[in-house]
Amino acid sequence: MKTLDVVLGLQWGDEGKGKIVDYLAQRYPVVARFQGGPNAGHSIQFGNTSFVLHSVPSGVFREGSINIIGNGVVLDPSIFRSECEAIEKMGIPVRERVRIAKRAHLIVPTHKLLDAADEAALGKGKIGSTLKGIGPTYSDKTARNGLRVGDLLEADFAAKYETLKKKHLARLAQYQQQYAFTFPFDLEEAERKWLEDAQYLKSFQIIDAEYETNALLDADKAILAEGAQGSMLDVDFGSYPFVTSSSTACAGACTGLGVAPRRIGHVYGVFKAYCTRVGSGPFPTELGDETGERLRQKGREFGATTGRPRRTGWLDLPALKYAVMLSGVTDLIMMKADVLDGFDTIKVASAYCVDGVRTDRVPYDVYAEVEPVYKEFKGWKADLGACRSEAELPAEFKAYIAYIEQETGVPVRILSLGPDRAQTIIRE
Ligand code: IMO
Ligand code: MG
Repeated sequence: MKTLDVVLGLQWGDEGKGKIVDYLAQRYPVVARFQGGPNAGHSIQFGNTSFVLHSVPSGVFREGSINIIGNGVVLDPSIFRSECEAIEKMGIPVRERVRIAKRAHLIVPTHKLLDAADEAALGKGKIGSTLKGIGPTYSDKTARNGLRVGDLLEADFAAKYETLKKKHLARLAQYQQQYAFTFPFDLEEAERKWLEDAQYLKSFQIIDAEYETNALLDADKAILAEGAQGSMLDVDFGSYPFVTSSSTACAGACTGLGVAPRRIGHVYGVFKAYCTRVGSGPFPTELGDETGERLRQKGREFGATTGRPRRTGWLDLPALKYAVMLSGVTDLIMMKADVLDGFDTIKVASAYCVDGVRTDRVPYDVYAEVEPVYKEFKGWKADLGACRSEAELPAEFKAYIAYIEQETGVPVRILSLGPDRAQTIIRE
């Protein structure tokens, strides 16, 4: 019997999950998204061009693949449609490859307005949301107000949509009064398009995904669950309230796909050789200096979804170890170490100093003064992107990897040393 294997981001998102899922998908006939929505931006490189996926699983470019959008996902029909039409233009039979869970929740235009209104109300304390309507949609889900993909197939869909919209408009009117909030886009126009795009969804296979995932596993088809965002943005364990609204750790794959925990096999934890974060919230190893700018430029650290410059900093081991613990990571995957090429010294936070006390735990208080305790490594003067085997790697880089393995207790199984599929080294 095959297992459900999970790929997770272990930092604050943007670890390179798209590239790794695309790479691993050659071994997995099925790829499934289990949480998040179009706040994700998973980039996949083809020669000189790249494609950014927001809602469609990153297995879609593999011939014969099945790609499931699970019940734990929130789906915006308008974003989904433009994505699918672009994929179709590349000659890919997207309708054959993508299936959508009936139980996935729909993002409606007023969810996006509420997202913007919530952020405007927070002012300086804003989350830095991607404004895709994620928080309000998950709120409606847990408040039992939500609209689901399966509702599209029911006769009373229009009435359900109107009821939800009315609730949202009442709240928005309050915001308009209280905070002089103005709509950032024309609701009528967005709604007209959304209703058309929601009908477009019906040309896809809309399925009972929990039955399908379990049946696929029973039929010996391995499934790769593709996480979105990262462990430090998890709604329970991330730097709350500066988090996203879903469970980004491994357990989310079970509830987001309807698969039991005992069916999980490998848990691949993806992390960058340094750190980035977009949006607000604590980032202990952040570099506001030239070194940070060098990481941003060399790593092309600009948001794939919002285009925002990403905050950059050194690798944070207390956070990485926390993420490994939460998800039971079995295999580490290190991304973008080539960005560190040519640095004289590379630093890693091995612990924190919180209010003068040394600790290796992530603090509860997001406003605590956290000083990283750094360990320094000698940099390498090699072009990692040109290395094709373990033997070609410089000794300094091997020492860096060995330290991370020793601290986390998990082997680094895959090294990605550039955007291309060929720039990937598998370690035994
Ligand atoms: P991928 O899958 C990085 C961040 C936002 C914000 C916070 C909440 O590409 O790694 P939300 O729109 O979810 O309410 O925003 O989470 N965020 C991400 N940061 N990568 C992502 O996805 C993200 N999705 C959300 O910047 O700080
Ligand atoms: Mg991204």
